[in-house]
Amino acid sequence: MPGPFSGLSVKLIATIIVVILAVEVVIYLPSAANFRASWLEDRLRIGIVAARVLDAVPDIMALPRTLTDRLLNSAGAIAIVYRREGQSQLIELESAPMPREAVTVDMRAADPMTLIAGAIDTLVFGGPRILRIVGNGDGNEQSLVEVLVSEAPLRNELLLYSRNVFLLSLIVAVMTAVVLYVFVSFVLIAPIRRLTANMIAYRQAPENASRIITPTPRRDEIGILERQLAEMETNIFSMLRQRRHLADLGLAVAKINHDLRNTLTSAQLLSDQVANLDDPKVQRLAPRLVLSIDKAIGFVQSVLDYGRQSATPPRPAPVDLRTLVEEAAFDARLAGHPEIGIVNAVPEGVTINADPDQLARVFVNLLKNAREALEGATSRIETPAVEIHLVEEDDWLTISITDNGPGLPPRARDNLFVAFEGSARSGGTGLGLAIARELTEAHGGRLDYVAQPSGTRFDVALPGAIRVI
Ligand SMILES: Nc1ncnc2c1ncn2[C@@H]1O[C@H](COP(=O)(O)OP(=O)(O)OP(=O)(O)O)[C@@H](O)[C@H]1O
Ligand SMILES: [Mg+2]
Repeated sequence: MPGPFSGLSVKLIATIIVVILAVEVVIYLPSAANFRASWLEDRLRIGIVAARVLDAVPDIMALPRTLTDRLLNSAGAIAIVYRREGQSQLIELESAPMPREAVTVDMRAADPMTLIAGAIDTLVFGGPRILRIVGNGDGNEQSLVEVLVSEAPLRNELLLYSRNVFLLSLIVAVMTAVVLYVFVSFVLIAPIRRLTANMIAYRQAPENASRIITPTPRRDEIGILERQLAEMETNIFSMLRQRRHLADLGLAVAKINHDLRNTLTSAQLLSDQVANLDDPKVQRLAPRLVLSIDKAIGFVQSVLDYGRQSATPPRPAPVDLRTLVEEAAFDARLAGHPEIGIVNAVPEGVTINADPDQLARVFVNLLKNAREALEGATSRIETPAVEIHLVEEDDWLTISITDNGPGLPPRARDNLFVAFEGSARSGGTGLGLAIARELTEAHGGRLDYVAQPSGTRFDVALPGAIRVI
C-alpha cells in the first residue's frame, strides 16, 4: 500500500500545481508587457501635454526653471524633446544633465511581440539604464515627442507586479489542487485504495470467503470494477474449493487403487494357477477370469498413471521423429501385426527437441486406438492399415495418424478428449486421448480430431521451433 506521500494523490497535486503555473506563465507574459506598455504610455502622455505647453510658449528659455522642473518631475522624466517641422525643442531637469546613452522604445511600432520582448528585457537587463520613449505628439505624424526616463522605477514596479501575479497564481494553483484533491480522493483514490487493500488481503487468503469484496451500488467505472472483482473473487473461491475437493478425492482414489492393484495381482496369480487345473469346466471359464482380472489391473494402472503424469513438465531432449513413431507402433502392438498394415511416412533425419517418453505416449495412445478400432470393426475391412505422415508448414510440424477403420462412434465424438468420459469401447477408460492432448499441449502443440469421409484421423501439431536443425 503506498504511503501518504507516494501514492496517486501526491502525483495529482504536483501535476495540477505545475500545470496551473505553466498556464499562468503563458498568461503572465502578455500581461507584464501590457503593464509596461501602459507605464510607458503614461509617461509619453505627460510628455505630449508638456509639448503642447511648449508649443504655446513663444520662447521657452523665458519659462521659469521651477515650472519646467515641475513639469518634468510630474512625468518622472529627465528630459522631454519635441520635434516638429525640422525644429526641435528641449526641456531638461536642471539637476540632471542630458544623458548620452539611452535605449529607444518606439511606442509607434509597438506590436505584442515587441512589447513582450521589451518586458523581458526590462526585467532581465533593466536597471540603471535610461529609456527614450518615442511617440507622436498631438496625434499627428509630423510632430514627435521623446521622453527620457530612468528605467529603474519601471523595473521595480514590474518586479512588484510580477511578484504579485506569481503569489496570486500560486494561491490559485494550490487552492485548485486542494479542491481537486479532496474531490478526487473522495471519488477515486479512496475507492481505489479500498480495491487495492482488498486485493492484497484476498490474495493472502483466497479461500477465506469473508475477504471477497462487497461492491458498493455505484454505477460508474469504479462500481463496475468492484462488481467484476467481487465476481472474480467468488469464482476463484469456488474453483479453489472445488480443486481442493478434487485433489482430496484423487488422493483417495489413488490409495484405493493402490490397494486394489495389490489385491488384483494376488487374484491374478491365483487365477493363473486355476487355469492350469485339468477340470474341463475350469479350463473353459478360467481364460475369461484371467482376461477380466487383466482388464481390471490395466484400468487401475492407467488411472494411477493419469494421476501421476499430470504433474511433470516435459524434459526435452533431441529425438528422431521417425524412430519415435516406429517404437510407438511397436508398443501399440501394431508393428508386425498379422492383419493391419502400417505405413510410417515420416522422413528420416527429422530431429525434434521434445520429451521422448511423453511424446511416445501420445503416439502409442493414438496408434493403440487405431489398432483397437480396426480390430473391433464389425464389418470387414479390405486392407486394414494405419498411416503416419508428417507435414511441415506455417511453422508447424503436423504428424497425422490415419486409419481406414469404422470411424469415431457418436458417443466417443461427444466427449472426445474428456478424461473418463470419452470411451465408447468396452474395457476402455477414456483416458488415452485426454492424456495425449495434455502431453501435446505441454509441448506447446495441439491435438485435434480431423473429420474424414471414412476412417479416423488425428493430427498432432507441434510448434516448428521444436525442430533441431
Ligand atoms: N482411431 C479411432 N477410430 C475409431 N474410434 C476411435 C479411434 N480413436 C479413438 N476412438 C474412440 O474414442 C474413444 C476414446 O478414446 P480414448 O483413447 O480416449 O479412450 P479409450 O481408448 O476408450 O480408453 P484408453 O485409451 O484409456 O484405454 C474410444 O473409446 C473409441 O471409441
Ligand atoms: Mg485409447
